[in-house]
Order: sequence, then structure tokens, then C-alpha cells
Amino acid sequence: MDKLDLVGIGIGPFNLSLAAQLDDVRDVKYAFLEQKAEFAWHPDMMLPGVELQTSFLKDLVTLTNPTSKWSFLSYMVSQKRMLDFMNADFAAVPRREFAAYLKWVADHLGGLLFNNAVREVEFDGNDFQVRSDNGTYVARNLAIGIGKPAFVPGWARHLPVEKCFHTSQAKSRLPDLHGKRVAVIGGGQSGAELVEYLLGGNDGNVEEVLWLSRRDNFEPLDDTPFVNEYFTPGYADIFARLHDSRKQELMSRQKLASDGASLSTLKSIYQLIYRQRYLDEGNVIARLLPQREVFQVQHDGEDFRIAARNGLNQDVEFFHVDALILATGYETALPEFMAPLRPRLEEGVSGAYRLDADFRACWDGPADRSIFVQNAGRIDLGIFEPQLSLMAWRSAKIVNALMGQNVFDLDQNRPIVDWVADGTHVADGAVVQAWG
Ligand SMILES: Cc1cc2nc3c(=O)[nH]c(=O)nc-3n(C[C@H](O)[C@H](O)[C@H](O)COP(=O)(O)OP(=O)(O)OC[C@H]3O[C@@H](n4cnc5c(N)ncnc54)[C@H](O)[C@@H]3O)c2cc1C
Ligand SMILES: NC(=O)c1ccc[n+]([C@@H]2O[C@H](COP(=O)([O-])OP(=O)(O)OC[C@H]3O[C@@H](n4cnc5c(N)ncnc54)[C@H](OP(=O)(O)O)[C@@H]3O)[C@@H](O)[C@H]2O)c1
Repeated sequence: MDKLDLVGIGIGPFNLSLAAQLDDVRDVKYAFLEQKAEFAWHPDMMLPGVELQTSFLKDLVTLTNPTSKWSFLSYMVSQKRMLDFMNADFAAVPRREFAAYLKWVADHLGGLLFNNAVREVEFDGNDFQVRSDNGTYVARNLAIGIGKPAFVPGWARHLPVEKCFHTSQAKSRLPDLHGKRVAVIGGGQSGAELVEYLLGGNDGNVEEVLWLSRRDNFEPLDDTPFVNEYFTPGYADIFARLHDSRKQELMSRQKLASDGASLSTLKSIYQLIYRQRYLDEGNVIARLLPQREVFQVQHDGEDFRIAARNGLNQDVEFFHVDALILATGYETALPEFMAPLRPRLEEGVSGAYRLDADFRACWDGPADRSIFVQNAGRIDLGIFEPQLSLMAWRSAKIVNALMGQNVFDLDQNRPIVDWVADGTHVADGAVVQAWG
């Protein structure tokens, strides 16, 4: 096999965006490797009616390359349903629609290789050797875009998997819950979508749904204009230069900008409960339990006994259910295939890589050999990092760094908010000293 300029590992939206941007760049040889047989975006969370939390204009390319043929609008035109889409006037685009767009791009773009799980990456002193199920690829640079593994809390790891599963397996496992008492643990959007689904009587009714969340309440996504400034290149450039401790502090305060539940989902849940309680519609019992941190679950072969601390009065409370759904989110971890390179990588605050502002992992290899990483730098680089919002900008930035030239013009206007006094105009790639 010829030596490549770049091997991408994983084809989710983020590396797909990078591949779509590279499609407009000449004289670059690349391949993207994906373990699945075909593109699929979180298929086990594709429940009826679920919506995108971001504008469809924040697609794979538009932010930096609006004339690319891989935009969402280009997909709409190719499907001949642009006017119908406009007439439908969705407040939020159905996730199924956006997933179909992503799949359309993946089906038509060159350089994407499926059924190709990566098992090991080594560096031979000159190049990366990427060993996959289909052979070894040699490349000057890597782009890791493998998403995040599900976070399964320690207290759940010994529980029977057919009755205790993570939301990332939801669709495959839900049919077994008919007639059961089910606890959904976690108050983010995944938990909210599962609760909405179960209360709606989908797939045959469950008997009872308990929704436990550690958060103070069932809190909404903050999608207001000034909070959305966190999802701009101007703010990202400033955030990247802060010290680690300040980044961590800000990250917990900004959590609801990315991890709150959509207002439409929360309203729907409330209305389902109202209809059940006052209008005799539906017969699934709902118990809403915020400020409950689950710390132990016992299973006696039939029942699960959940022990949770109530953050309001500090009591320990117990709940009995037949099944558990872990809506406990995702974690950042160095993948197994990177084990040979682990000693050469600098560890970041997220617990895996330390990333620079060009999304490059800091390592002790040659400066002209880069390991770009997407979706592993929320604390290093900002709250935008695991979200779709800036993916087109990020992949354009990666292309510029890879090519060593400004293929894409990423200079920005002065941010609307003066985050720092000298933040008049942040040129792409400008590096200033770290601020405390
Ligand atoms: C249900 C859900 C809905 C979301 N909706 C939104 C939203 O509306 N707006 C928003 O901004 N954010 C959203 N997010 C957050 C984020 O945008 C998504 O998680 C997004 O899919 C992240 O893209 P990714 O490419 O990093 O990872 P993924 O989509 O997880 O894709 C990673 C790919 O890498 C592959 N892979 C893994 N290991 C290997 C290997 N060793 N070899 C080869 N391939 C491998 C996987 O099979 C997978 O296909 C959502 C998250 C979830 C869970
Ligand atoms: N429609 C969509 O667009 C969509 C759908 C799904 C997901 N997403 C996105 O994907 C990302 C991940 O979402 P997610 O909901 O899967 O994960 P998440 O936002 O990280 O939520 C995980 C939840 O689990 C809680 N938790 C963890 N351990 C707990 C315990 N022991 N007891 C009680 N609660 C516990 C967390 O509490 P703390 O907050 O206190 O840690 C949090 O409420 C988010 O950015 C989300 O917006 C989007």
C-alpha cells in the first residue's frame, strides 16, 4: 500500500466532516477506516421523534466551505425535497433526517473504508503503521475520530446486562421491558429521551418509570445567544489559552450549555404526565427523582434495589425496579489501539490526550508527524468540542494544520462579547502566552 498523508480512524460525524473538507483539497492522499459495515449515527438512540439539538447549518462543511457539495442543503436538493423541508418548518430538525444526510455523504464520498476496525497503531520512527482488520496502512499523520465509550459507573459493572444497559444500546434492548418497573438513571438529553419514550407507551407499556438524576432539577439546555458564544471560534481561541485549573472550573459551570435536556423534550415529558394524571391518557406510572445520586445497586436475581443519596436532605433512599437504563453519559479514554504510543503521549486534563489549539495531541514524535484527535478535548479546548456546532470549523482547522497553509480562511470577526480586553481580533493560529 502507498504511503498516505493521513489515516482517519473512525467515521462518525467528526471524521466524516474532515473527509468532506479534504474532498476539496488537491494533492493529499488519505483513507478513513470504520469498524461498522456502513455509516450509522448513534443508531441505538434513534427513537421516534428525536430531534437535533443544533442548527442544520452546522453541518459537515457549511461554516467554512458553504459551496461544498457535501452540505445539508445540497443533500436536500439531491433528494428533491427542499421545498417540502422548508414548508415543514421544523423548530428542530428530526435526528433521523440529519442521520440520513450524514449517511448520504458517507455513501458518496471517496476514501472511506468500512468493515475496517483498527486494532493497533505504532510509530516506526518515520511513519504511523495502522493495523486494521484489512491490513496495515502507512501514514504520515493520523486523525482519530472514534467518539467516546459509554460511561458505566462502578456500581453497575457487576449487574446482568440483559436487565441493566446503557442508553447507547437502548433500541436493541428496550423490547424486553414490557410490563416492567424501569429506572432511568441520568438527567441529560439521553435520559430525557428514554423517559419520554417509555412514558409515551412505545413498544408495549412498561408499568412504571423512575427517573433519577444527580442534577438539582431536570435542567434545560441553555441555548440563548450569549451562551451560544461559547460555540464560536473566537471564544474557543481564548479558552484554549487558559490554564488547566481555570478550564476545569469553567467546564462545570458551562455544563448546561451542552448537556442540558432540550426544552421540547422536557415539556413533552411534563405534558405526558399531566395527560396521564388528569385526562386519563396513558397508564405508565412516573416518578421523577432529581437530586438523587445512585451509589449502589443490588440484584437478588429478580429485583434491583437502588440506593441513592438525596441531595436535598442528605437522606439515603431505596427504590425497587425490574430493570435499569444507564443514561450516565460518555467518558474520555485512550483507546486500546493507541497502547503502543501511550508512553509517548502527554496526558491532558481530560485523562487521555493533551490537545493543542489545532486539535493535535502533544507527543514526543517529530514535529511534522501529527496525531489529530476529535471529541477528546472538552476540557482542553472548550465545551463546543464534543458537539456538532463547530465541526466544520474544526475540520477546516485540521486541514490547514495538515497542509501547512491556509487552505481555508479561518480569520474571524471580533467576537460580539469582549471576553478579554485585548480580544479585538483573533487571527487563526495566533498563539499568545497562557493566561492565569
Ligand atoms: C444520541 C446522541 C445524539 C446527539 N445529538 C447531538 C446533536 O443534536 N447536536 C450536537 O451538537 N451533538 C450531539 N451529540 C453529541 C455528538 O455530536 C455526537 O456524539 C457525535 O456523534 C460525535 O461524533 P464522533 O465522530 O466523535 O463519534 P461517533 O459518532 O461516536 O463515531 C465514531 C465512530 O468511530 C468508530 N470506531 C470506534 N472505534 C473504532 C476503531 N477501533 N476502528 C474503526 N472505527 C472505530 C465507531 O464505530 C463510530 O462509527 C449527540 C450524542 C448522542 C449520544
Ligand atoms: N437529541 C440530541 O441531540 C441528543 C441526544 C442524546 C445526547 N445528546 C448529547 O450527547 C451528550 C451526552 O448526553 P447524555 O445524556 O448521554 O450524557 P450526559 O449529558 O453526560 O448526562 C449524564 C447524566 O448522568 C448523571 N449521572 C451520572 N452518574 C450518576 C449517578 N451515579 N446517579 C445519578 N445520576 C448520575 C449525570 O449527572 P451530573 O450531571 O451530575 O454528572 C448526568 O445527569 C450531551 O452533550 C447531549 O446533549 C444529544
